Amino acid sequence: MSKTDFAPLTVLGIETSCDETAAAVVRRDGETRGAILANVVRSQLDLHAEYGGVVPEIAARAHVDVLDLAISKAMDDSGLGWDSIGGIAATAGPGLVGGLIVGVVTGKALAMARGVPFIAVNHLEAHALTPGLTHGLSFPYLLLLVSGGHTQLLIVEEVGKYRRLGTTLDDALGEAFDKAAKLLGLGYPGGPAVELMAAKGKPTVPLPRPMLGRPEPHFSLAGLKTALRHAAAKRSPLSESDVADLCASFQEAVADVVHDRVRRGFALYVEALGSKAQKALVVAGGVAANARLRETLAGVASEHGFQLILPPPELCTDNAAMVAWAGAERLARGLIDGPEVPARARWPLDPDAPPAIGAGVKA
Ligand code: KG4
Ligand code: ZN
Repeated sequence: MSKTDFAPLTVLGIETSCDETAAAVVRRDGETRGAILANVVRSQLDLHAEYGGVVPEIAARAHVDVLDLAISKAMDDSGLGWDSIGGIAATAGPGLVGGLIVGVVTGKALAMARGVPFIAVNHLEAHALTPGLTHGLSFPYLLLLVSGGHTQLLIVEEVGKYRRLGTTLDDALGEAFDKAAKLLGLGYPGGPAVELMAAKGKPTVPLPRPMLGRPEPHFSLAGLKTALRHAAAKRSPLSESDVADLCASFQEAVADVVHDRVRRGFALYVEALGSKAQKALVVAGGVAANARLRETLAGVASEHGFQLILPPPELCTDNAAMVAWAGAERLARGLIDGPEVPARARWPLDPDAPPAIGAGVKA
């Protein structure tokens, strides 16, 4: 195990990788205990809604406009002075590079001005470490990250040590919900809209379950989206009940895929870690808000003797408390960064993972 300092640490975190501008203050009291002293999130949803997705230039400019205010508010809410801040952490990737640069430059400048360490945080690592903050969960555990930009099954072994078991070959799960919503004329973000309509319909439309039964727990959503488009075109013009049935069928197909992929992930996780495999599944990302998927995950977890850990919704979606916590975890282990550390659009948690393209597909 790396050298770890368990002295109390307070870290300011900054998140600007997508369409949320966020700042938070978190205290780390011991090996796995954390307290959120402030958690400010400014969503840009209304700025992007009319475009049906996040527009990078608009996002970057909006981060510039509100980040300073978000940081001041976080400091005010924490009730602490700057002298209490022992480090400053900012998401440095992966994400939209314009927004990342805003957060990283601000974080570095503040760290330099205050004479405290700067920590460049991987956004995926911040999601991955959240259960340490919310549940005091120890390592190792299995993580399913399902958001608008990411779909990954990861073994979280230690801070900085991850093994990617599965990823998506094309669209992320949240992206698939967003595209489904768009093609059915529902609003953005699509996930909540699809879920709402699905509740009014029946899963009567036959749709494929891509990747079902494949040995590696990868995902593929593009074919499902295309099948949905064909099914919708066949029924056009769509009545409200057609849309509801299409949504219910889409959601059911996704639930079946998630069930199968996670089941496969469990097997590989236990195979990889043997008796050291703590049977805990953590789910993070906006898609974890979907009630049908939560039910599916609870089912597959209990079938296989895994404990299901769902951080509260506001810590499942993008926030800066998770960034501050990841920063504190790194700082406690002496993992800090110099002023040259870059913002990077791509930053895999497991750089050794083989490319997933075509994985599991028989030649
Ligand atoms: O984690 P998140 O807030 O932001 C990032 O993508 O980083 O996730 C947003 C994604 C969107 O694609 C949204 O459609 C999806 O999560 N989502 C849902 C639901 N709520 C949000 N998907 C399915 N069902 C939901 N209830
Ligand atoms: Zn995220």
